[in-house]
Formats: sequence, structure tokens, C-alpha cells
Amino acid sequence: MQPDTKICSCSIIGTGSYVPARVLTNDDLSKFVDTSDEWITTRTGIKERHIAADDEATSDMATKAALKALEAAGVKAEEIDLIIVATVTPDMFFPSTACLVQKKIGAMNAVCFDISAACSGFLYALQTARHYINSGTRGTALVIGAEKLSSLINWKDRNTCVLFGDAAGAVVVRRAEPGDTSAPGRVLSTVMGSDGNLADLLKVPGGGSACPITAENAESRPNTIHMEGRETFKHAVTRMCQAAEQALKQAGLETKDISLVIPHQANARIISAIADRLGVPEEKTYMNLQKYGNTSAATIPVALDEAHRSGRLQRGDVVLLVAFGGGFTWASTVMIW
Ligand code: ACO
Repeated sequence: MQPDTKICSCSIIGTGSYVPARVLTNDDLSKFVDTSDEWITTRTGIKERHIAADDEATSDMATKAALKALEAAGVKAEEIDLIIVATVTPDMFFPSTACLVQKKIGAMNAVCFDISAACSGFLYALQTARHYINSGTRGTALVIGAEKLSSLINWKDRNTCVLFGDAAGAVVVRRAEPGDTSAPGRVLSTVMGSDGNLADLLKVPGGGSACPITAENAESRPNTIHMEGRETFKHAVTRMCQAAEQALKQAGLETKDISLVIPHQANARIISAIADRLGVPEEKTYMNLQKYGNTSAATIPVALDEAHRSGRLQRGDVVLLVAFGGGFTWASTVMIW
């Protein structure tokens, strides 16, 4: 895992998020799949999740989060010159969801593309925007994590269907001049890593070029999430701890300096294990997965927006973001809020 030491800072100047209206509780799930509120709560911490309407696509949720982030930043859509959407549930193979968001918000001066890094996608996208901004080629970016995971769920598979939900979160990012300590949401460091050798442990095997959906295979639902839960759990804890420690070191900080950890929201037991290993007390660890479940690339920007709007995050706080997902991929970012 190579730390990125060469680039200067960028600043998050606005956040926004959106969750669809429809709520699916653990009790609701137990009516159509063999599970219980007790099992889901003790194994995962999840109590309910939000499910998008049938006619609500990822770009619709991303657009709502983006408009809130633009409003919070006081930035007009025409000022945005880069839109990156992190998603594994794009509206369609192409055009990119970022292009569809561009059209919906009227950001006609933007270059737009998607990033696929599963649950680490938002941090990958933020780091990509940071490189563009610090190289001087782009000035103001919209970075979005948005997922309609309900479109990839096999509702008969209790191993996976209880874990996921739909949501979107967005941030507006601008260059922060080196030494400008007054800029809000300054990114100090990011580390990223991937291990494609473990791709089979968490994947959607069908629906792409390797295994198109046909009349013959449709019944076995290859276009839904397949996961080795226990293996994923172990790798998630190890990689997230390593990434967090490296990002802190790269920022010249220690665990005791952290005001708030915002981890990817997959499982309360993963989050507790990470906090434990890093030596961060529970009250400094953000958790909202009880309300939303795992929304993949959306978990971190949604939590960031919530923590900011609720006053849990204050200017000057040191924030550690850390994620892990299919690929496998992982990333950690340290910021001064
Ligand atoms: N309700 C009731 N029973 C269930 C359910 C369910 N929803 N799901 C599985 N079970 C049963 C299994 O069938 C098994 O029964 P058996 O012993 O009779 O065979 C038993 O519960 C134990 O199953 P395990 O899979 O071993 O349960 P485990 O304690 O590992 O918990 C879980 C499963 C929650 C998925 C856990 O492994 C986990 O959280 N893994 C991380 C996966 C994750 O978060 N992935 C998200 C994407 S990656 C990421 O975001 C980091």
C-alpha cells in the first residue's frame, strides 16, 4: 500500500445526502425470508433500510444529494467542472451516471465519469477529484456516492438481502491553497489499495460481458450480490485498520488526535473491531447503519453530511474516513473539518 505524499490539499465546501422514503424494517423482511429482527440486529446492528421507488434510479438519488451539496456550498451548477459518481449500480452501462446527473442539474461545464470500487468508491472518487484539482486541470468538483443496491438483491437469499439499502451522498470540493488553514474540510492524506486475487469473495457475477443474463440462467439470479460473509469480514477489519493507520501516519497524526472516525457502514461488529484495534473510543466512532444498512459507496458521504448537519462535526475536528469493499478495495482519508 503506497501512501500518496506528493499532492497538496483540497477542501470540502458543501455536503448533501438523500435517502428514499420507503422504509423496510427487519420485521418486514422476516415476513418473506427466513430471518428475524433478533438475528439481523445481533449479527449486523441493522434495524431498517430505505428502498428506492421502482421508478427512482441511482442518478435520481445522486441528483437530490448533489443539489443539497451545491446549496450548502453556495455554488451554482455551472461552476462545477468535474463530476465523479462512485457507484456499482449505475442507471445503465452507459452513459455514465455522472453524465445523467450532469444533465439533471445543468452542470454543462463539467467533465463527467463514474468510478467502480464498490464500498470504497467514494474515497477513490474523492482522491481522484483531489488529484484533478491539485494538478490545476479542474477547479470545482462534485463527488457523489450513490447506490440502488436493492436492484442487485436476491430477496430469497437471507445471507445478503438483509444487509443492504439505497441512498446517495455528495460533496463539493475545491482547491485549498497550501498553508490555508482556514479552508473547511481539508483533506490531509489518503491511502488506497486493491487485491483482485480476492475478487470472488464478493461480487455480482452476472449481467456483464463474462456472464450476460439469458433465458437459461436468469432463474439462478447471477445478477445479484454473492458474498462469502466471514472471509469478507476478516479482510475488511485487517485492511481498514492498516489503511487508517497509514493515512494517520501520512498526515503526521496519531489516534489520540482523532475527533471522529466515519467508517464504511457495513456491520456494527466490523466497526467495533476497527475502533478496538485502532484504540478509538466508541463515542468517537460514527454509526448510522441501524437506519440505512450498507449503502456501499453512499455510506461515507451520507454519514459525513449527517455528522456535519447535526453538529457532531465541528470546524477543526480531525476526521478519519475508512472504507472496504468488493474487489477487494480499501481506502482511508484524514481530514481537518
Ligand atoms: N437470518 C437468519 N439466519 C441467517 C441469516 C439471516 N439473515 N443469514 C445467515 N443466516 C444463518 C446461516 O445460514 C448460518 O446458518 P447455519 O449455521 O445453519 O449454516 C448461520 O446464520 C451463520 O451464518 P454465518 O454466515 O456464518 O454468520 P456470520 O456470523 O458470519 O454473520 C454476516 C453473517 C453478518 C454476513 C457476517 O459474516 C458479515 O457481516 N460479514 C461481512 C460482510 C459484509 O458486511 N459485506 C458487505 C459488503 S463488504 C463491506 O461492505 C465491508
